[in-house]
Amino acid sequence: MADTQLERRQFFGLLASTAALSTAALGSMGCQAVSAQPPAAVPPADEWDRVRAEFSLAPDYVHLAGFLLASHPRPVREAIERHRRALDNNPALYVEARFMDSRPVLEPAAEYFGVKAEELALTDSTTMGLAILYSGLPLAPGDEVLTTTHDHYVTHESLRLATLRAGASLRKVALYERGAEATPTGMTAAIEQAIAPQTRVVAITWVHSGTGVRTPVRAIADVVASANARRAPEQRILLCVDGVHGLGIEDVTLPELGCDFFAAGTHKWLFGPRGTGILWGKAEHWPRLRPIIPHFGEAAFGAWMKGQPPPPTTADMMTPGGFHSFEHRWALGEAFRFHLAIGKRKVQERIHELNRQCKEGLARMKHVQLHTPRGDEASSGIITFEVAGLKPEQIVHRLVEKKIVASSTPYATSYGRLAPGLLNNPAEIERALAEVQALAKS
Ligand SMILES: Cc1ncc(COP(=O)(O)O)c(C=O)c1O
Repeated sequence: MADTQLERRQFFGLLASTAALSTAALGSMGCQAVSAQPPAAVPPADEWDRVRAEFSLAPDYVHLAGFLLASHPRPVREAIERHRRALDNNPALYVEARFMDSRPVLEPAAEYFGVKAEELALTDSTTMGLAILYSGLPLAPGDEVLTTTHDHYVTHESLRLATLRAGASLRKVALYERGAEATPTGMTAAIEQAIAPQTRVVAITWVHSGTGVRTPVRAIADVVASANARRAPEQRILLCVDGVHGLGIEDVTLPELGCDFFAAGTHKWLFGPRGTGILWGKAEHWPRLRPIIPHFGEAAFGAWMKGQPPPPTTADMMTPGGFHSFEHRWALGEAFRFHLAIGKRKVQERIHELNRQCKEGLARMKHVQLHTPRGDEASSGIITFEVAGLKPEQIVHRLVEKKIVASSTPYATSYGRLAPGLLNNPAEIERALAEVQALAKS
């Protein structure tokens, strides 16, 4: 693959690096997303129009790949701007006044997740959260990490590196043969059968970005709990989840979800500042982790200054230290508040409704093969599909010509992907379906 543009395109599963969406092309389309101008004020028709009006998204596009990287809603943009101005004005004093105190971010996050603020660490992305989690686990030679064949590169690679360092082993099992036919009971049974005496970690992904399948995390947690009930404490299994594509959609708290650790970027479905994420763990598990990146906080830094050994690990100590793009990190609380203000139940209902509409439309097309289950119980906000006679990148290319922003999945087997979310409405889904219909060979 000599063409670096092609490599980048396949890596991101987007057309953003192709001529179709070159800066010049975006400029000539008057694309608001690149000009950073707010859209012209149009009187909002309903509640969802008002939500959409909070974003500076290019209004002439149907944004069905918005989950890759968030557009910031107005409250997030304003908070970033406030912090940026204050940092530019007096960086040392503004940082000093705030950087030891994450409560303004952690408190709304804790409310959203239904957990305690002290159980949350702040990261820059899903990737960073998973990497510090998996590298920090107390794995030893002979231990096994069980994961699945459906996870994203960042789970597989973090686990490969972590098990390599620890001398532990890594095993991947399939939860389903065909995404469209995945069921909660089938996926749970696959994990149950795969757990072995040496398994110490089960690492799964809430919603597979390669197929759109949603895994039954709660049921898998129950299976892990019953295996743990027969084990000595030091042999118990930890259930770790890449939750990025369920967060910001599903109306569930983390205790209800039932896992032990949960890592997610907050810069996708949640609309948090780009370059933000969280890592959550049950309070009793944090002391078992070994931090990888030194934390800038009273407990660890303070102990070092007093010449004392570091205290047992806390969630706070797993937040990587060093200075960050603080204007983004400190604006994250606004994204949680934005979702809470709409209501988690309403968000879930709306996204599932739009996804059902889109899947039903796709399922009626003879030239389309769906790879995401039709039912709500094993799917969420991502729909993957094939179009007869077209490669995934051709689907994306043809759709973006019609101003439908889709993506292709960055996996060994790649599909076309549409992700209806809060920034879409039923008319936009119909518009996208009409363009997918038009991809049929005449
Ligand atoms: C399932 C999954 N996990 C992790 C990531 C990486 O997320 P982040 O950009 O927050 O590191 C992606 C990419 O979108 C993904 O699809």
